Amino acid sequence: MSARSDQPITGQTRIVGVIGDPVRHSLSPVIHNAAFAAMGLDWVSLAFPVIASAAADAMTAMRTLEIGGLSVTMPHKATIIPALDHLAPSAQALGVANCVQNIDGVLTGHNTDGDGFVASVRRDLGLDLEGEVITILGAGGAARSVVDAVGRAGAAEILIVNRTESKAVELCQLAEQARPGAADDISRSRLVVNTTSVGMAGSTDGGPGADVPSDPELFAQGQAVVDIIYAPIETAWLAAARARGLQTLNGVSMLVHQAAIALEIWTGMPPDIDAMMAAAEQELKARSGEHQ
Ligand code: ATR
Repeated sequence: MSARSDQPITGQTRIVGVIGDPVRHSLSPVIHNAAFAAMGLDWVSLAFPVIASAAADAMTAMRTLEIGGLSVTMPHKATIIPALDHLAPSAQALGVANCVQNIDGVLTGHNTDGDGFVASVRRDLGLDLEGEVITILGAGGAARSVVDAVGRAGAAEILIVNRTESKAVELCQLAEQARPGAADDISRSRLVVNTTSVGMAGSTDGGPGADVPSDPELFAQGQAVVDIIYAPIETAWLAAARARGLQTLNGVSMLVHQAAIALEIWTGMPPDIDAMMAAAEQELKARSGEHQ
């Protein structure tokens, strides 16, 4: 069943999509197409497999084929940068883009991941991050986007806790409020965010505590806890926070909100977040059923 079942694809249909390798399991087309259906827009989103060495070729193709927008995932977020004409401040600050806008052949790179995170926390937890103490677990690519955005959102303190401390130190350059944190900082934070891959489906390497990025005993009352992982929909770590009565949010919301910002950049219109969220959750549920 297609979201476009009552709207035929014609010569007028505008094309956007996602590039990556692998990309066939990307949720982006599902989320984008649900938004187009809800908005009544004659647009379609497709997945384009693009091998690592072909990022610049894909940008040329985008101009040639007049593809209006592309989401960008691994392994192209950094390598497309030299092939773009302009960078929005978010992409400039991070040196990576997850979204390309094509206006008459002029390509602009954006990074909507961090702002998507902040928007998801605001909408789904009702939490404004200004003046708050935040602990971020992890110091990889996802953490970089989150640190940059929560810094701009006015967090009072950003504590970065990572297995490899040198990477946490390096990330502190992205926000003046950031510094390397310790496990103790978790308990005094208003918001705790997991950006590591610990708990992701298929990532467990065994051993005690191997499936949680921090000891659940360190959670404190009144906290909000976000895991940006969306497969599984609820990690063991997030379930432990919820069992303690804490406010929790999984990674579907960030995924949908970063896509919503991209869609608004491409179409100029705010998309229907509820429709996007429902489509993402339905697809993830269908996929988890497949694996049982
Ligand atoms: P992404 O782009 O999704 O952020 P990444 O850049 O590979 O992915 O970063 C993965 C993060 O998960 C890193 O912070 C990594 O810690 P290190 O910097 O020490 O490698 C963290 N991570 C991955 N596996 C981990 C594990 N088993 N225990 C603790 N942290 C882990």
